[in-house]
Order: sequence, then C-alpha cells, then structure tokens
Amino acid sequence: MKLSIIGAGAVGTSCAHWAIVRKVAEEIYLFDIVPGLAQGKALDLAQSSPLYGFSGKIFGTEDFSHLKGSDVVIITAGKPRTPGMTREDLLKVNAEIVKSCAEKIKTYAPESIVIVVSNPLDAMVYVAYKVTGFPRERVIGMAGVLDSARYRYFIAEALGVSPKDVQALVMGVHGDLMIPLVRLANVSGIPLRELLPEDKIQMIVERTKYGGGEIVNLLKTGSAFTTPGLSTIEMAESILRDEKRILSCSVLLKGEYGVSDVFLGVPVILGRNGVERIIEIELTEEEKELFYKCARACKELIEALPPL
Ligand code: LAC
Repeated sequence: MKLSIIGAGAVGTSCAHWAIVRKVAEEIYLFDIVPGLAQGKALDLAQSSPLYGFSGKIFGTEDFSHLKGSDVVIITAGKPRTPGMTREDLLKVNAEIVKSCAEKIKTYAPESIVIVVSNPLDAMVYVAYKVTGFPRERVIGMAGVLDSARYRYFIAEALGVSPKDVQALVMGVHGDLMIPLVRLANVSGIPLRELLPEDKIQMIVERTKYGGGEIVNLLKTGSAFTTPGLSTIEMAESILRDEKRILSCSVLLKGEYGVSDVFLGVPVILGRNGVERIIEIELTEEEKELFYKCARACKELIEALPPL
C-alpha cells in the first residue's frame, strides 16, 4: 500500500508520524513545494525506523510525479489559523492551494482515494471533489473524527473515566456550528444524560465546538496537529485495511439528511472503496434544524469560492 501526504507542515508531518506508528502502508510519501522541507521531515522520520521497527519506505519530495500509484492521498497543504481568525478566513488562499494539489492528484494518481484536511474543511473537500472530478466515494474530508475525539475526551475528563469507553458523534460542519450530538453520546452503553447534569453537558458541547480555536489561542502561531494527524490516519487505516469502520466524515450529500450539493460531516462506512455507505440516522426536529444551518453555512462558503 502507498500513502501520500501533501503538505509537510505540522499536520502533514503528524500524519506521517502516525502512519508509521500504525504501520498503515509500506510506502509513505511526503510532498511539499518548499524546497527541502518534505525531504528533511521524511529523513527525520525515516531515522526513527531502526528505533521503532518500521521497515517500510519513507520518502520526501517536491516532485509530484511520485504521487503515482498512491492508494490514498491526504491533502494537508494550506495556511493554518492564527488567533482571531476563523477557519472561514482561510477560504480564498487555501482554495488555490487545494486546487493545485487536486490537479496534481488528478494527473498522477487518478485511482486514489483523497482525504482532505485543509481548512475551511467542508469547502476544501468540495474544491478537491470538483477539481479531481473523482466520484464522491473517493473524496472525503477529515473533521468529524477529530471533533468527536475532542468531545469524547472532554466527556471522559468530566467524568474521570477512561476515554476508551466514551462513544460520541459530532456531525455537520467543521466550524462553530458543528453538532456534538448529546442524545447518542454514551459511556460503555450508558447514556451521557444518565451520568452528567445538563449544564455540565452543555459546557462540554460548547468546548467541543471551539476545541480547535482554544488550541489556536494557546499556540498563537498555528493550530492543532497531533490529534488532527491521528484522526486522518484513522480514516486512512480504515480504507487501506478495508476495516469498514463507521466514522464521521465530511462527504458530498445528495439528498441524504434532506440536503444536497454540500459537504457535511455524517457517519459513513469507510473501506477499500472509500465511502462505502452513508449512514442516515433519524434526527430529532431540533437536530435537523442545526443540520440545515450547517448546510446553509457550507453552501455560503462554496458560493464564496474563487472560480475553480
Ligand atoms: C482544528 C483544525 C485542524 O480543528 O481545524 O484543530
């Protein structure tokens, strides 16, 4: 299996690191347009392999023809947020960057499955989808796994229990309107509402929605990268190993959940063919309203995109 990662910044490097730890591919290629950056990062990672025991190939390059033969390509290229910025502020600059990545993927890896990580996420997956012309099953955005991990962590922290036992789902946009579902959150099958009072739950929901921003404000020079990297590799692993995990991913909706032509986070089955099924769960009226709001927000971003 060959995994390619475009963008050797913090998130791209974290993806490569976790890909080695999880041993998801025999060949891991890191790409960047900045001369030397991908090579330097890849060399540093490669030198950990005798200590860690990874015998695959780790290679960094500026030559995108090496995308050839990739099973999965991850796009992390783009500017990160700095304090005071929303993910949406990155729309125009990152659209150009993602467009150029998508053109290269279309040329050199037309059979690959693409995972987009760049922000504003749901609009950037749309850019990659449009520019590659790939079917919707093969262009997927990473956000729900990350947002759900944050939600699960905050629940575990509040309860003082192992995060392993916490299951929870975040749907909708990767932005302030995201929907951390309370109704379905549980710890070892016990509904969250049996374990925590509503005010505490609402505090966790709010903290989850601004989970990325909280880190941006602390770091001041960039955004989160460790958990975004692992979240992306969770998706890549499910595809490369055909695990058929159910993960919240940003996918093109064509009538599912009552909306069309927008990318939003919903639970899907991820396997060797990419998105193998979109799972439509019954939402309450209130949840539906929140979901439609997300759809409108995504539509507005798509409409504000420069010509592709
Ligand atoms: C975050 C960025 C990656 O949520 O969007 O941390």
